[in-house]
Amino acid sequence: MTSKLFKRTAVVTGAGSGIGRAIAARFALEGATVAVLDLNIEAAQATVEQIMESGGTGFAVEVDVSDGDSVAAAAQRTIEELDRIDILVNNAGILDGYAPLLDTSEELWDRIIGVDLKSFFLVTKSFLPTMLDGGGGTVVNMASIAGLVARGGGVAYTSAKHGAIGFTKQMAADYGKQGIRVNAICPGAVETGMTKAILEEGEAAVIESINAVPAGRHAQPEEIANLALFLASDDSAFVHGAAYVIDGGWTIV
Ligand SMILES: NC(=O)c1ccc[n+]([C@@H]2O[C@H](COP(=O)([O-])OP(=O)(O)OC[C@H]3O[C@@H](n4cnc5c(N)ncnc54)[C@H](O)[C@@H]3O)[C@@H](O)[C@H]2O)c1
Repeated sequence: MTSKLFKRTAVVTGAGSGIGRAIAARFALEGATVAVLDLNIEAAQATVEQIMESGGTGFAVEVDVSDGDSVAAAAQRTIEELDRIDILVNNAGILDGYAPLLDTSEELWDRIIGVDLKSFFLVTKSFLPTMLDGGGGTVVNMASIAGLVARGGGVAYTSAKHGAIGFTKQMAADYGKQGIRVNAICPGAVETGMTKAILEEGEAAVIESINAVPAGRHAQPEEIANLALFLASDDSAFVHGAAYVIDGGWTIV
């Protein structure tokens, strides 16, 4: 174990799979006690087992990040267990099937905005008072290149991820002086539960276009966890309100 997060506490949403699981595991390896929040409690528990097997500490909490009552209950349970919150990673998210406007129902729009944007408001509002009471902390929001350009999702996902970056900037402006640093991560294609079907069984042309970036490949979740660690730790002490692109060069070509 190294110690970039020695004795810190972290909450990671959507930590039962993919990027969230990799972040939770990495933070635990760096010494943090990690609250593993997910809609899928079995998946969250599997992440906790992985953390324990590598000598770390964590516990699982069931939550629907798009539901205010569920978030309030999960926050209460988490705060009782941890006492203090140093790091919050708003990571849970779902894709919209790349649907353009005329293929987007009101139900799909509400679901995507609920899980991918409203959740940032609900979850951060539930944990921020405890972070402020503890003297400050860091919030890392999982946006996407879909928060910057119109190539990473459909209209609902792209709108939500652009909103996630706006939320990040406003939060950083409002709470920076009180010791809260808020930053966003904008990944390109990462091999996770969200993208597995496309990357493994998608049409050759789609896979080729995903990998036709300067890096020549898609990312593994652990590569995104490295950036999350930087943004959560004191290494990024002067970084406020930034949206870090980690896309193998996707958005520069
Ligand atoms: N995989 C990519 O290529 C990619 C690229 C850019 C951004 N992202 C973003 O990264 C984040 C993580 O995605 P991933 O690729 O690891 O996906 P994933 O599907 O592997 O993991 C998402 C996790 O979120 C959980 N979740 C879904 N809805 C939830 C809800 N309502 N409440 C609580 N938990 C919920 C799922 O159970 C799952 O464990 C998302 O915000 C996604 O938009 C992913």
